[in-house]
This record gives sequence, C-alpha cells and structure tokens, in this order.
Amino acid sequence: MDKQMKQDIFNHARTWIMEAGERIREKIDAPRSIETKSNPNDLVTEMDQETEQFFAKRIKGTYPEHFLLGEEGFGDEIEEMKGTVWIVDPIDGTMNFVHQKRNFAISIGIYHDGVGEIGLIYNVMEDTLYSAQKGQGAYKNDHQLPVLNESRPLEQSILALNTTWMLPENPHVDHRGIEKLVKKLRSTRSYGSAALEFAFVAEGILDGYLTMTLMPWDYAAGAILVQEVGGTVSRADKEELDLLNQTTVLASRINIHDEISDGYVDLKK
Ligand code: IPD
Ligand code: CA
Ligand code: CA
Repeated sequence: MDKQMKQDIFNHARTWIMEAGERIREKIDAPRSIETKSNPNDLVTEMDQETEQFFAKRIKGTYPEHFLLGEEGFGDEIEEMKGTVWIVDPIDGTMNFVHQKRNFAISIGIYHDGVGEIGLIYNVMEDTLYSAQKGQGAYKNDHQLPVLNESRPLEQSILALNTTWMLPENPHVDHRGIEKLVKKLRSTRSYGSAALEFAFVAEGILDGYLTMTLMPWDYAAGAILVQEVGGTVSRADKEELDLLNQTTVLASRINIHDEISDGYVDLKK
C-alpha cells in the first residue's frame, strides 16, 4: 500500500474511531435495547448496530472501493482478502458494555491484499487509543510502546484466558492441558474484550492471550498491534491465522509462544 494513502486512511480511521467512541460515551446511560444472537449470553445492543452503521457510512462515503467486514452485518460479504478490507468490531466486549458500562473497545483492522496494515483499538471509557501501522511500531495514545524484549519465563507470566469455557470439558481443547498451564503460570486474567486483551499484550501488561473461538473482527486490529511490538500471533496450534473464519488464537511474547502451544494446548479438531 502506498505510504501517503496509508497515512490518509490511518488519519480517517483515527478520527472516526474517536468520534464513534464519543457518541457511545454520550449515550452510555441511555436506556438500552438488548437482544441476544447465537445464545442467551451473546448480546447485541442498538449501540453495536448504530456504531457499525456509522463506520459503514464513513468508509463507503470516503473510500467506495474499500470493503467492510463488520460483526453486525452492515458491511460486505467477503470471501477473499483482495483489495483493502476494513475489519470492524463496533463494540468488542458487549457484555461489559451492558453490565459494566466500561471495559469495552472499538476495534478496526485494515488489511490490504491480506496483509495487516493498520490496527486501532479504542478503549472508549478510558479514552485510550492503541494504534499501529505495519513497520512503524505501536502506540498507546501518543506514546510509542516498547518492543517486548523481556524474556519472562512462563512461571512468572500472566496469561489472559477465558476460564469459563476452557476449564470445564469443552469441544475445542483438552481442558486437562489448560489446567496444567494455569498451574504453571503466575496467574490468569479475563477481561471480556479480546481487543483489549490484545492491546494489553502489546502494552506488555499481559504476557499472552489464549482463546479458542475468535472471529476476524475480534483480532484483526490486535494481531497487528502485537506483531508491531515483536510479539507472536498465530492459531493456538502455531498455524497462520485465517482472516475469514472463526479460529483459535495464541498471542504472546515470543519466548513463551512455542512452550504454551507445544506443551499445553491439545486441540480436539
Ligand atoms: C467477544 C469478546 C470476548 C470473547 C468473545 C467475543 P463481542 O466479543 O471479545 O472477550 O471471549 O469470543 O465474541 O461479542 O463482545 O464483540
Ligand atoms: Ca468481538
Ligand atoms: Ca462486537
């Protein structure tokens, strides 16, 4: 992607994500219309939909040749990663949005011919923007994040893990391996927003994030951020991520990545 074009897209994306965040903050105490999607705990609100529509309008109005892959379905049906694709999660952490009114983010990953070029994660209530452009490092607001060069061993690491479905027997991974991993680690955290979990790995306040069922909009931006600070992002079995389908994800400091995947993650399929 041409450098000038990339900067132009980045500037627009940054302006829009902050504007969308401001709209959410303004309406944070307004009555909510809450519906469920795939199961009773899979929530969606009018704010998720309005926010994605906001991005669809801006992106299509400014870059009619770009594609939008959005969680709430206001974008395009994407079958391949050709051209410029905006992958948008209008509210990542909807359950937190509904129950806590904080700890949620807007996530935008921009890919060109399948390559991650721009990643933005906006922690709305904290007014904190994590951003990255390929080859130019990652930032928390205006502060450049240092490269993750500390080689903390696994026993001193904190890993983000969704324990509610990883510790009971489940269809994705042998929970006994994860139990062993949890015992080995210093501790685990579960923030309820994949985008924020990636941002915290990039920031170095988490050593890794392991999960079994993410969609492209959950990790499109986060993967770029973590890679820009020298972290490793892959499927939990170390294979390359598939940007068009649900996937497992392991994002971590480079020194614990193989150890977690080889030693503790036994996928069922
Ligand atoms: C969810 C959050 C959550 C993760 C789920 C996602 P949503 O996204 O990122 O942390 O565990 O897999 O679906 O539904 O709040 O956008
Ligand atoms: Ca999400
Ligand atoms: Ca969402």
